[in-house]
Amino acid sequence: MASFTVTLACADPLRLAEDIEEARAGGVGGVHIDIMDGRYVPNLCMNFAQVEAIKEAYPSLAMDVHMMVEDPFRWKEELKRLRPERAAVHLDSTPFVYRFLCQMKEAGIRPGVALNPSQPLELLSELIRRVDYVLLMAVEPGFSGQHMLPETYRRIAALDDWRRREGLDFHIMVDGGVDLENAGLCIEAGADILVGGALVCFGQEGGVRESCKCLKRRIDQS
Ligand code: DX5
Ligand code: ZN
Repeated sequence: MASFTVTLACADPLRLAEDIEEARAGGVGGVHIDIMDGRYVPNLCMNFAQVEAIKEAYPSLAMDVHMMVEDPFRWKEELKRLRPERAAVHLDSTPFVYRFLCQMKEAGIRPGVALNPSQPLELLSELIRRVDYVLLMAVEPGFSGQHMLPETYRRIAALDDWRRREGLDFHIMVDGGVDLENAGLCIEAGADILVGGALVCFGQEGGVRESCKCLKRRIDQS
């Protein structure tokens, strides 16, 4: 059964707690935490002090951390302290992805690898058996509110096909540009987890709770 998370990058910073509570009431499975360092991507987002405060306030809130940073090892201790359910590193952000995956696993965090839209899926061949999930970027990373690239469906389907062919059990998470139109297409193509952001869960008429409920309905129908 597919599920969704919401990216707190798109929440209202002045109403963060309310947005989290509304999203939970709307049926969200967890929250997606975008960590940016202004170097791997030309933007900044949340920092670990903020995320730790959220975890303290909502200890049962599942978190997946998306590391868009140049040196993921720089944040290893913060990640271990936070202990999110999942954490993904970009394939090209370090030559030592394998080591990062092992360290996350040792810390009890399910490890993932993130791929940008221009990166062929085959680049994952040496790692695919080691990951809990592939975070498939459906837009260039760094900014919310972009529209999903149409190549995404083919990429999801190819990953799903690979998974079936080889009997693998990684999850496929789709991040960027998810909306009510493309959510069903992503699920039909084989996605397991969608990240809801600026086009579907936040800033919509009806508020965060209703928007999340709508996305949940759409996913459950697929
Ligand atoms: C983009 C981030 C995404 C993004 C999603 O770099 O990784 O998580 O904030 O937001 P939308 O859905 O608005 O693209
Ligand atoms: Zn993200």
